[in-house]
Amino acid sequence: MNSKMNKASILRETKKYLRATFEGEGSGHDWWHIERVLNNAMTIAKKEAGADLFIVQLGALLHDVADFKFHGGDDTVGGKVTTLWLKKMGVDEETMKEVVHIVDNVSFKGIGVESKMKSIEGKIVQDADRLDAIGAIGIARAFAYGGHKGRPLHAPGSKPEQHKSFEAYKTRSASTINHFYEKLLHVKDLMNTDTGKKVALRRHKFLEVYLTEFYDEWNGLR
Ligand code: ADP
Ligand code: NI
Repeated sequence: MNSKMNKASILRETKKYLRATFEGEGSGHDWWHIERVLNNAMTIAKKEAGADLFIVQLGALLHDVADFKFHGGDDTVGGKVTTLWLKKMGVDEETMKEVVHIVDNVSFKGIGVESKMKSIEGKIVQDADRLDAIGAIGIARAFAYGGHKGRPLHAPGSKPEQHKSFEAYKTRSASTINHFYEKLLHVKDLMNTDTGKKVALRRHKFLEVYLTEFYDEWNGLR
C-alpha cells in the first residue's frame, strides 16, 4: 500500500463529493442511503474478521455513484466513475481494483442472476446495501423509486417474475408491489454475513406484516 496515501483525507473528500452530488436525490438513492450503507457496513465489518476497513468505506461510499438504473442500464459506468475519482484522490492501484470490484458487482440484477462478489469487503458492502432495501426504510425506498420511474403502487393481475437474466430484470417495468416478490422478499436468503442474516430476518418479517396490511386495505372495508 502506498504509504503517501492519506486515508483520512481521502475519505473526507469522498464523503464531501458524494454528499454534494446526492444530497437531495429523490429516488431513494440519496446521501442518507449512502451514509446508512457506510455505517452499517462498518458495523458488520467490525464483527467479520479480516476486512480492510478503508476498502469497505470507499466501497460503501461509492457503491451507487453511477448505478445502471440511472445510466440506461449500463453497469460499467459506476466502475469507470470510481476509477476516475480514486485516481484523482491518489489511491493506489491495488486498493482501486478492490473498490471497483465492489462498485461493479454490488447491485441486485435479478433473482436468477448470480452475484459475482468475491471479496469479504464486497460481501459486507452488499449486505449493508441490501439491508437498506428491506424493512421500513426499504419499503419507503421502493415506493420512492417506483414513483420516480412512474410505476403504479400495485397492479392486480400483473404477475411477478423471477428474472433469469440482467437484461430481463432491468427492462421490466412492473408495479412496486411486484418488486417485493421480484427482489425484496428474497433479500434475507441472499445475505453473505451472519450479522446481515440476523438483521435481514427481522426486517423480512416487517415486509410480510406490511404486505398483509396493504392487501387488507386494498380490498376495502367489509
Ligand atoms: P440494488 O442496486 O441492489 O437494487 P440500490 O441501493 O440501488 O440497490 O437500491 C435500489 C432501490 O430501488 C431499492 O430500495 C429497491 O427496492 C428499489 N427498486 C429497484 N427496482 C425497483 C422496482 N422495479 N420497483 C420498485 N423499487 C425498485
Ligand atoms: Ni445502494
